[in-house]
Amino acid sequence: MLRLLLNLTRLMFLAVVVAAMPIGIDKLSHAQESDRVTGLIMSEGWELVQANCTECHSTLLITQNSGNRAVWKSRIVWMQETQGLHELSEATENSILDYLANNYGQKASTRRAGLATNLLPENPYATDSQNGQ
Ligand code: HEC
Repeated sequence: MLRLLLNLTRLMFLAVVVAAMPIGIDKLSHAQESDRVTGLIMSEGWELVQANCTECHSTLLITQNSGNRAVWKSRIVWMQETQGLHELSEATENSILDYLANNYGQKASTRRAGLATNLLPENPYATDSQNGQ
């Protein structure tokens, strides 16, 4: 009888642990949760991007890009002038720009600097920049 009780307690303990696991995992990934359909980071303003920016192309075109506020502004202007993007109210555009610059901001270069010319192998092709070197 005691043994049965012990086993039951163990089972209940296990059930609680298993039930709590997804909650823990969910909390961990909460930092930068993305919308499952659009892939957009779900922070302030993401619904505006979903509503205004998904009509013509995939959000991948947005999430794979990056830039500061001015860069994002120039892309919006470009789409309005050449691709038929509708006018956005000032408030909407500001919120969208804040969202984009905050979540898909300018990246520091991840590439190493180029090698100095004297460290490079000889270039067998004639190029303008190599004349006399
Ligand atoms: C009326 C249609 C339309 C809407 C709405 C639209 N876009 Fe675009 N966008 C385009 C087209 C067309 C391209 C070029 C697609 C290509 O190169 O294949 C483009 C390209 C882009 C690019 C890539 C630019 C590059 O440098 O390669 C980004 C980033 C982008 N759009 C962001 C947005 C954002 C942010 C919004 C919402 C404010 C938005 N788009 C809404 C039509 C639209």
